[in-house]
Amino acid sequence: MNLDSQHFLDEYWQKKPCLLRQALPEFEPMLDGDDLAGLACEDMAESRLVTGTFEAADWSLEHGPFDEETFANLPGENWTLLVQDVEKHYAPLQELLQPFSFIPAWRLDDLMISYAATGGSVGPHTDQYDVFLLQAAGRRRWQIARDCDRDLLPDCPLNVLRSFTAEQEWVLEPGDMLYLPPGVAHHGVALEPGMTWSIGARAPSAADLLQGFGEWLAFHPDEGGRYSDAALKPAARAGEIDQLALQGLGELLRSKVADRQTLHHFLAAFMSRFRLANEPAPPAAAMLADEVAGALKNGATLMRNPWTRLVWIETAGTARLYAAGQPHDCSTWLAESLCKSICPNIGTDKLDQASLEVITSLVNSGHFLLGPDTV
Ligand code: SIN
Ligand code: CO
Repeated sequence: MNLDSQHFLDEYWQKKPCLLRQALPEFEPMLDGDDLAGLACEDMAESRLVTGTFEAADWSLEHGPFDEETFANLPGENWTLLVQDVEKHYAPLQELLQPFSFIPAWRLDDLMISYAATGGSVGPHTDQYDVFLLQAAGRRRWQIARDCDRDLLPDCPLNVLRSFTAEQEWVLEPGDMLYLPPGVAHHGVALEPGMTWSIGARAPSAADLLQGFGEWLAFHPDEGGRYSDAALKPAARAGEIDQLALQGLGELLRSKVADRQTLHHFLAAFMSRFRLANEPAPPAAAMLADEVAGALKNGATLMRNPWTRLVWIETAGTARLYAAGQPHDCSTWLAESLCKSICPNIGTDKLDQASLEVITSLVNSGHFLLGPDTV
């Protein structure tokens, strides 16, 4: 990718929009509109069909799965089909995320692909996350505004701004990319049939984190400990939670969040599950560590389940690797090697028994497949 990552992070990331002409000059989309429509007919895929224009304010929104008839009956213009998590449904697309690996993997969410007919748009809106909008096919006009009225169009099934005045606009051609930090209003309209591939970041809210932390503590036998008040005095005023009690309740809460070790393990477990609809399921038959070792020696490749989010934290020189909320203690070398690519190349000569056990456990919980197929 034609991008100086350090410069981009210093100047633009989370700060201001950045237009990257020919960010991916040789870019050839591996999917086309028909492939996307096929995916949008599947139960597992999260898809939306948006029709309407900003001028007419006649927006409509339908959620998938769709059927072939829906696509056969679409008008010639002013509609967009959007599908989330496409890189998880179609694993070879994970390769596309490789140029974005300068952003920590846990901070990226998914690849959403939209196919738009001429005039297709989802209306002017803001997003809560950073997004890289890669023009994959056809030309699209993007207008943006940093300063704008945030009121939404009333009675509209989409989050569309009521009014929008562009501050800047560009026509993006295939290979061009527009980066937008959260909160910048944007309005894209297809000038001809084409696709926009959105690489979206994720950022948990405090509510997400606190809710997740509460659920995580609830799984511990003592639920994180309970409020106690051995020095209780007779209630002075009916119904009141007095200052001493407020202090005690607050202290219980603060002590949980202040326990760094607990908190860090929760955060890693949480980020390995965050916004994940389809967690991998164990395979029909479990493998023994010896069988895994034998397969790897015979040239089998490990392939990460595209729905697996792998994250790790370092604790005292070793790693705790999380997959779907479950911890696996291993060396930092193994954790990093397993996370490097969707088909990690783990040389068998370096593989000690402890590492082999971790890989076996990840295979037996469905996070890695062992097979001859490569992505
Ligand atoms: C689109 O691809 O149509 C919309 C992408 C976005 O605005 O985030
Ligand atoms: Co957007």
